[in-house]
Amino acid sequence: MLSTENKEEIYKICIENIQNYSSNDKLNKICEILFNSFDEWIFCGFYRRDGSQLHVEQYKSVKIPCSPITMNGVCGKAISKNMILNVPDVNEFPGHIVCDKDTKSEICIPIKYNNCSYVLDIDSNKFDGFDNVDVKYLSKILKLT
Ligand code: SME
Repeated sequence: MLSTENKEEIYKICIENIQNYSSNDKLNKICEILFNSFDEWIFCGFYRRDGSQLHVEQYKSVKIPCSPITMNGVCGKAISKNMILNVPDVNEFPGHIVCDKDTKSEICIPIKYNNCSYVLDIDSNKFDGFDNVDVKYLSKILKLT
């Protein structure tokens, strides 16, 4: 598991890299830069809400993710409650949608982008993969969009 200092350093480098891209494909760059920076992450992507479904748009992933998905999983709950959901053990989350059986923990952060509701979803192959450092830096990164 990364120490807090190491994780902060990695996030700071990610932020610099993301800021260097002026592209309108910022969400894609965020997925690419973050996914390539954390070894334990097996999915990093954005789902966009379309009525009662979520469609994956930009993502980097070990496996092809499921899409569309219902609003009953972690992503959908994060959007409908408009809150960050940090799930240390996905087996304990009622309704969790399994896209990759190797996922052990997950974090979902809802954002508005181009007048649409999105959620940044990240899966880790380790239990307890996310903490307040991730919340702090991922929230900062999403403000760069
Ligand atoms: N686990 C998510 C589905 C998306 S995948 O993890 C890529 C959920 O419960 O909504």
